[in-house]
Amino acid sequence: MLEKIWLSPPHLTGRELEYIKDAFDKNWVSPYGDNIDSFESKLESYFGVPDVALVNSGTSAIHLSLIVSGIGMGDEVIVPTLNFAGCINPILYQGAIPLFIDSEKDTWNIDPVIAEEVIVAKIKAGKKPKAIIAVHLFGTPCKINEIMALGNKYDIPVIEDAADAIGSTFDGKKTGTLGKLGIISFNGNKTITTSGGGALISSDPKLISLAKHLSNQARTLKPYYVHDAVGYNYMMSNILAGIGTAQMDILDERLKRRREIYSIYNSELSNISSLEFPEEIAGSHANRWLSSIIIKPPASRNLLYDHLASENIESRPVWNPMHLQPAYKDYPYYGNNVAKELFDTGLCLPSGSAMTDSQLGRVIESIKRYFK
Ligand SMILES: Cc1ncc(COP(=O)(O)O)c(C=O)c1O
Repeated sequence: MLEKIWLSPPHLTGRELEYIKDAFDKNWVSPYGDNIDSFESKLESYFGVPDVALVNSGTSAIHLSLIVSGIGMGDEVIVPTLNFAGCINPILYQGAIPLFIDSEKDTWNIDPVIAEEVIVAKIKAGKKPKAIIAVHLFGTPCKINEIMALGNKYDIPVIEDAADAIGSTFDGKKTGTLGKLGIISFNGNKTITTSGGGALISSDPKLISLAKHLSNQARTLKPYYVHDAVGYNYMMSNILAGIGTAQMDILDERLKRRREIYSIYNSELSNISSLEFPEEIAGSHANRWLSSIIIKPPASRNLLYDHLASENIESRPVWNPMHLQPAYKDYPYYGNNVAKELFDTGLCLPSGSAMTDSQLGRVIESIKRYFK
C-alpha cells in the first residue's frame, strides 16, 4: 500500500517540546504560565490588537463572542449555510436562532446581497438580527467590506469566524481583525495548531477582558469563590500554549507553503477542462488553508474522491450546508442553492504544509490519470 497522504495534518517544528518541557520544569501545568503569556503576546503583535483571549477551541471562542455581544434566547443571527458545525452550535447554546444565508459564487462565502434582503425583511417584521457571523471559508476571505457595510448601515455587530483564515488579508488587513470580534482555531488540521485551541480577537480590550473572565467560570478576584455570572471552563492549557508559541515562530513559512501548494495544483491541473480553480477577488489574499476546487459536471466529484482514496490520498468534499443537516434543518434558509451546488461539486485536496514535493506530485499525477 502506498504511504497515506493526509488532507491537512499537524506540522510541528520540534521546538514545541522545549516550551512544553519548560511548563513541566516550572510545574505550570494549568491554564496559567509563561507559555500562555508568550503565545498571547505573539498573537497580539501579529494581529495588532491590545489583548487576545486564548481558549480551548475555536468553537468556545465563537461562543464567548456571542455572549459578549449580548446574544441570547430567541435572538436571530445571520450566518452562512456553507459552514462548519462549530460555528452554528454556539448560536444554539445561547438559545438563539441561526438564519442560514446562501453562498455567493466568487468566494463561496456568505452572499451579502441575500444577507441584506434578509436583514431588511426582518427589520420590517419588527425583529432586527442581533449579529452577523462572517466566515472565511477554507481561508478565503468573504466579501468583508460589503458585510461590514451592512453591519454599519443597520447597526448590527459583525463577528468574523476566521477559524481557517489566520494570515489571510483583505485590502491588506488581517482577517479576524476587521469585525467587532474575530476568532481563530488552532485545531490539529489548521495552518498552525495547539492540537486543539482557539483565540478571540478584538480591538476592544473590554470585550476580551469579559471573555477571559467568562472563560474562567466567571470567577472574581476574591480569595474565596465568588462568581458574578454563569461562566465556562474554556481556558487554554499552558502546555498547549507552548505548542502555539513555537508554531507562531514559523507561521510565515507555513503560510507560504500553503499558497505554494495551491499555485502548484493550479499550474499543473487547471488545463483539465473539468476542473475549476477559484481565483481571489480584488483585494483578497487567501491563506489557502485548504486547496479547494470544483469538479464540473458531468465529471463526478464523488468518483474523483473515490479514485484518490483508492490511492491512499485523503481529500474531502466541501462542507455539507448547515440547512441540510438533520440537526439544523428546521432553521430558516435563504438562497438559491449555490451552497448545495458547491457541496455537490467541491473538493478539498491535500494541503498540509509538511507535504513534500514528491507527495504533491503523487496527488497531481493521480488526478491527471483520473481525467485521462
Ligand atoms: C469555519 C469554522 N468555524 C469554527 C470552527 C471550530 O473550531 P474548533 O474546531 O477549533 O472548535 C472550525 C473548525 O475547525 C471552522 O472551520
